[in-house]
Amino acid sequence: MKESIKYYYTNLLSDAIGNNGVPLKEIYSYEKIAAQYKKEIKSEHATGNLKFIDLPFEKKYSKDCYEYAKKRINRYDNFVVLGIGGSALGNIALLTALQHPYYNLLSKKERKGLPRIFILDNIDPDQIGSFLDVIDVKKTLFNVISKSGETAETMSQFLIFYDQLKKQTHNYKNHLVITTDANKGFLRKIIEKEKIDSFIVPDGIGGRFSVLTPVGLLSSAFANINLNELLRGAKSIVDIFFKNTFKTNPIILNSLFHYHYFKNLGKDISVMMSYSYRLKDLTDWYRQLWAESLGKRYALSGKEIFTGQTPIKALGVTDQHSQVQLYTEGPNNKIFTILQVQKWDKTVKIPKVFKDIEGLSYLGGSTLNNLMMYERIGTEYAFALASRPTCKIIFPKVNEFTVGQFIMFYELQTLFTGKLLNINPFDQPGVEAGKKATYALMRRKGYENVLDDIKSILTKTRDYVI
Ligand code: PA5
Repeated sequence: MKESIKYYYTNLLSDAIGNNGVPLKEIYSYEKIAAQYKKEIKSEHATGNLKFIDLPFEKKYSKDCYEYAKKRINRYDNFVVLGIGGSALGNIALLTALQHPYYNLLSKKERKGLPRIFILDNIDPDQIGSFLDVIDVKKTLFNVISKSGETAETMSQFLIFYDQLKKQTHNYKNHLVITTDANKGFLRKIIEKEKIDSFIVPDGIGGRFSVLTPVGLLSSAFANINLNELLRGAKSIVDIFFKNTFKTNPIILNSLFHYHYFKNLGKDISVMMSYSYRLKDLTDWYRQLWAESLGKRYALSGKEIFTGQTPIKALGVTDQHSQVQLYTEGPNNKIFTILQVQKWDKTVKIPKVFKDIEGLSYLGGSTLNNLMMYERIGTEYAFALASRPTCKIIFPKVNEFTVGQFIMFYELQTLFTGKLLNINPFDQPGVEAGKKATYALMRRKGYENVLDDIKSILTKTRDYVI
């Protein structure tokens, strides 16, 4: 039995950090409303909505991804994901958390024949243009991921590599696998027309909630990540969410703390600081989930509210030398979450050299594990001293089970916080506006009106200084 992640909220409480904290009884006063929202979630789920909650129980996607990868895993030198936002951030997070931290730099033998994995979540011409210098498309499998099947960034990547594959390979179809909606979008049309291998992004699941579908599972299968354990972890959190009582429900409590601090105590920034290199891209994944889901102009009633807590990612110990000054002495407008790891895969000893230099000798004979731990404790102490509210998620170990737990924990917390804020956490009209503007500026047919609008707004604001 794998050990579970743990949630600690002590340093959010006034008992621990003084007046800036919250008395537990204030959080407990939400019990009735929390019960009502939980009931609503239960019934929405029962009526077939909130499909992301079912993903840990769905064996088919992981099985299909495994089988697909098993037949091809040794055939390619590179597996490349073309996608952006929810179609890339989960893949990056899983790879960083669950594979060797320098995976792509290992030799093929050291990788046990597995392909290197690249996730191109941008269209920067220098990045993409140079990418062709480091991979041989003839030895590469491209996984194009787009739920809508029309996002300009992903489609332009696709067109570039499709063209290269057609020019350089005998059968370009052997180098492409597309993950998209089962029925809609241009990618689905291309799949059908050209008979290209494909996976689906299941109906009713938006990009940032899709990591446990083939969106995130296929690249993970090619990186030999244990999908069953990942899903098992996620499932255990669904059980906790639905079964635990209010006072023992970590997802609901953390949602309430964040909501209360945001709405009533001016903490409009939520910093997630990972004391683990492996978890650093999960903080990036969280950043998108929290921002895109909760940053909304309108309440469900249609009233303009401009709500949302700004998520910030930080990395221990690196950001102790970059951000912590601001975090402890700057505006007290942040709530912190520290990600702590109890057991590392490696122990790195610090050798006893320069024993005669007193200011260095304390390090010799210890380990980086100890140093990292004490630096984290130091930060927790500094935050408490400065009366900065801080909670913690403790990973007994970073493995598929605990990472799966973390993912579902935050997906459910986001859903619950959406209820508290009275907004729809599943849409992203602000992103759509930018997408439409791009189509218009790139002269896509049908977007002429948008182009006129952009011209009129930008001429009004054209006041460049240089
Ligand atoms: O979470 C979301 O819905 C977005 O971040 C999308 O994932 C992102 O815009 C990419 O969209 P698509 O998968 O349709 O290409």
